[in-house]
Order: sequence, then structure tokens, then C-alpha cells
Amino acid sequence: MKTVRTIEEMRSIKNDLKNNHNSIGLVPTMGFLHEGHRQLIQSSRQENDVVVVSVFVNPLQFNQSSDLESYPRDFERDEKIMEQDGVDYVFYPTALEMYPRAMTISMSVDRRTDVLCGQSRPGHFEGVVTVLSKLFHIIAPTSAYFGLKDAQQFAVVDALVHDFNFEVNVTPVPTVREEDGLAMSSRNVNLETDEREEAKHIYQALLHGQTFIKQHDDWSRQEVINEVKGYLEFHITGEIDYIDCLSFPELSKDLTVGDDLIIAVAVYYKKARLIDNIILNAQ
Ligand code: PAJ
Repeated sequence: MKTVRTIEEMRSIKNDLKNNHNSIGLVPTMGFLHEGHRQLIQSSRQENDVVVVSVFVNPLQFNQSSDLESYPRDFERDEKIMEQDGVDYVFYPTALEMYPRAMTISMSVDRRTDVLCGQSRPGHFEGVVTVLSKLFHIIAPTSAYFGLKDAQQFAVVDALVHDFNFEVNVTPVPTVREEDGLAMSSRNVNLETDEREEAKHIYQALLHGQTFIKQHDDWSRQEVINEVKGYLEFHITGEIDYIDCLSFPELSKDLTVGDDLIIAVAVYYKKARLIDNIILNAQ
């Protein structure tokens, strides 16, 4: 495994790989790897000749500097995990390498972001699509892997690739969970003991919403939201940021029979904001 710190070197490696007709699987991450990331790496390993993981805590997608500063980092540990998982190249640039000067051109995400995390994190998805556009240009992956834990991110990346004709297959990977159902996240380490204990109910609340839909033919979006809300308010002390039920991946409030659906929640704890969702077909 080789760690690459400059865009120039990454580009030249990519050119050699392409000249030799290797397929490249990219797993974009912000590091502090856990089983969720490892699942993405495994999928990429199975489907490609060469696996590249990028590790970059992208300042552009954080709207609060305190969140950026408290974001957990441990590159040495990450390197060991990636070595074990058969990663070929780690692209690990500095912020200065990626953003040597203020950007002259910015991207704006006009759909799929007026709901869920887009609403509570203005500018976040603009930062995500900007860094991904750069990574797609620098690494030119055949396929890129994204977790459905961040389902809105997947929906936005899907739109990015369609709208701008990036020649990359965007591959979704199901959410990896702890034994009690909590979705794995780098942010989970910022939970206090009692917060961690009750956080298992977030997934249970989503399952409760799913059961409600399956048991009622004439359910409405608002009823599903109320059911999930009632369940969460009974079981957790964290502050609910949002609960919603939308079509997927369009993320529209107008639901049509046969749509794939997403039920998604976000909860604030003292030092962490947790998100989770389930995607289902309502038929
Ligand atoms: P990060 O939060 O490090 O996540 C990297 C990838 O791992 C994302 O595709 C995310 O959905 C996936 N992932 C995280 N937890 C997961 C879980 N429990 N199960 C399955 N997949 C999981 O998402 C980002 O970084 C950044 O926004 C990035 C795409 C790298 C752009 O900066």
C-alpha cells in the first residue's frame, strides 16, 4: 500500500493505471475508519483491479468550525486498517494541497437538499460535491462507493454524476450497524455513556415507522412522521433535528404508490449529531 500526498503524484499513478487498463475503485472518506468504511473498501476490493481510498477531512463541507475541529482523526490507525483490507493507494492530501487558494467557481445544489440534512446544514452538500468533483478528476475512478447511511449524500452524488456526466459508477452500500442497531459512525465516539446506550432506539424508531407503513394501507406521510416522533420522544433525551418520510432518491414530499421511500432522522446529542435512515418499498 502506498500513501500519496500530492495531486501531481496521484494523477501520474492514475495515468499509469489507466494505460494498463486497470479498473479503479474509489472509496472517498474523511478517515477515522470503522466497519462501515471497511464494508465500502471490501465492495471496492471485490469489483476492481485497484482500490484507492481518499482520506480528507474536507473543510468546505463543515458549516461549524467547532465541528471541523472536533472531527476525530487517527491516520496511523487508519493506515493499518487499510493495509489489512488490501487497499492499494491512499490519497491523503492536506487542505492546502486541495484548496491552495480561494475557489473562484462554486457549485450549488438546487434539488434534493431542501429537506433532511440539507436544511440544517446549509452549504454542506455544496462542499461535498465540490470535493468529490475534484477527487473524480484527480483519480478518475471506474466506480466510487458510498454508504446508504448517508442516503441524502448518495442521492446528491447520484445527481452530480448524471448532471455533469462523470464517467463513474456510483455504487450504494447498505448501512453497517453495531450489534444493538446503532449505525456505525466516526461521530459515535463523541457520545457520552448514557447517550450511547439510548442511541440504539434511533434505529428501533425507524423500524417502528417501517412496520407502521407495512401494517396500514392508507398511511400518510404525516402519520409516519408522528409515529416515529412518538417513539423517539418516549425513548431518547437527545434533541430531534428532523424526522421525515420522502421518496428516494428524489427526496420529494409528494409520494406516489410504488416509490421507494426513505424514513430518515437526525438527533443532536451534546457533542455529536447522529443521522440514520431506512429505505423501503411501500408496496
Ligand atoms: P465519511 O463520513 O468518512 O464517510 C465515508 C463513506 O462511508 C460515506 O460514503 C459514508 O456513507 C460511508 N459510511 C459511513 N458510515 C457508514 C455505515 N455505518 N455503513 C455504511 N457506510 C457508511 O461521507 C463522507 O465521509 C464525506 O462526505 C465524503 C463523501 C468523503 C466527502 O468528503
